[in-house]
Amino acid sequence: MPVTNSKHFCIGLLPRTSLALVLALAGACDAGGFGASDGDGSTGASSTSEDGGTGSDASSSSGSDEPTTDAGGSGGEDEGDVLDLPATPFNYANPDLPAHFRTPLVRDLDNTPVDNPITDHGATLGRVLFYDTALSRNETVACGSCHRQAAGFSDTSQLSEGFAGGLTGRNSMGLSESRWYATGRFFWDERAATLEEQVLGPIQNEVEMGLTLTELVERVAARPYYRDLFIAAFGDEEVTTDRIARALAQFVRAMASYRSRFDEGLAAAGSIRSEFANFTAAENLGKDLFLQPRTACVACHLGGPPPPPGQDFRNQAIFLPLEPLNNGLDAGPVEDDNGVGDITGDPADDGRFKSSSLRNIAVSGPYMHDGRFATLAEVIDHYDSGVKPHPNLDPRLRGPDQQPRRMNLTPAEKSALVAFLGTLTDEALLTDPKFGDPFVR
Ligand code: HEC
Ligand code: HEC
Repeated sequence: MPVTNSKHFCIGLLPRTSLALVLALAGACDAGGFGASDGDGSTGASSTSEDGGTGSDASSSSGSDEPTTDAGGSGGEDEGDVLDLPATPFNYANPDLPAHFRTPLVRDLDNTPVDNPITDHGATLGRVLFYDTALSRNETVACGSCHRQAAGFSDTSQLSEGFAGGLTGRNSMGLSESRWYATGRFFWDERAATLEEQVLGPIQNEVEMGLTLTELVERVAARPYYRDLFIAAFGDEEVTTDRIARALAQFVRAMASYRSRFDEGLAAAGSIRSEFANFTAAENLGKDLFLQPRTACVACHLGGPPPPPGQDFRNQAIFLPLEPLNNGLDAGPVEDDNGVGDITGDPADDGRFKSSSLRNIAVSGPYMHDGRFATLAEVIDHYDSGVKPHPNLDPRLRGPDQQPRRMNLTPAEKSALVAFLGTLTDEALLTDPKFGDPFVR
């Protein structure tokens, strides 16, 4: 039973609330915020299972599936009871991508499956799921807890905290441009074959969210606000893991980063090689260095074939490698984490990792699969003088003698590279309400 006003579409957990609270919620929607839930003892994750008989509850199983481990109305952060969604869904399906995204090569990198294109209603459902703490066992953690919009959909901690306080085995990955990774494989070690498969991983992970898929479906079906969202996205209210996965994948694929200062500069200059008028001298120097064989950054992080002599880079948009690589973090196989090698069992894959996109990298530290580098300056120092002689070290980071290359960058060149990476920060994406938390908390 949505309560609407001129601008917003607010949905409360009405069956669980008193009439007085319904009015309070409606009022809060009108005011555009509902920040005082702590003061109101009757809100929060109250697990009262009596339905109020408003007729809007589509769930077949409320109450009985609530696990006893539920924190219930624990004082601190309340689970959102109210959604703030626009009456007409945001545009996710057709972002206004600039010309450098509309090239044949970039189109070829797109991993959107034909049977799960991004739709505005599908991504809207995905957005709600992404921020819903109901997807974790004790209702404390959502995808968005470890993939924070302001941090490029990454986490600023080296390892992320799961629902019971346990730590993840690796650093969280930034999610910008997930759509443009041609193999479609996900995670640092690429153990997920598709994004639709990946998004169910954290929900079932014992450290991260800790639900079984059966519990997941029960949880989602028990929340009245999902009914209309499933109908809009999929035609009827049936909740399935497949639909949850599709909606989450649509929302993640929609996280396209194309509104940074780099994009503005490129649109004006026409080529990544040209001087950008909107860049400082240091940023332009950093861009030059990034493109030079001396650093080889471009060869790995702007995936695509090397340009024929004198011609331009064919990919000037997607700052992702084409495949998992070894960038010399460790000398030889290590005890705890050999990346793709631990998945395939092939020693030739040891120490190979997928990289997340360099888009929004300045806000998404710490860096690398284990979050070992706290700053971009440390990352540059690694490439300059710290690359280790792993047997699978990528040839682009080796000298003619096959040993790890030393770049001999000056301090000014190092800070220029850091400055250039900062131009890939896309404030428009990081603050866009269509990617923000829709729960009014
Ligand atoms: C407790 C923290 C945590 C939660 C909750 C969490 N993630 Fe993650 N996410 C991570 C970590 C850590 C990684 C890297 C794990 C690895 O590679 O082994 C990751 C990786 C990913 C990736 C892979 C990105 C790439 O480029 O390969 C995607 C996509 C993703 N998460 C989406 C989600 C979605 C969707 C949810 C909610 C259903 C979610 N995450 C919940 C911590 C979390
Ligand atoms: C041989 C290919 C290769 C080259 C050359 C290369 N990188 Fe990387 N880069 C990678 C890989 C692979 C990773 C992920 C490694 C990991 O976490 O284990 C990575 C990770 C990164 C990260 C951290 C990403 C994250 O989300 O934590 C940054 C920043 C980065 N590289 C910047 C650069 C810069 C700047 C240069 C040029 C000085 C460069 N890279 C050169 C392959 C390369």
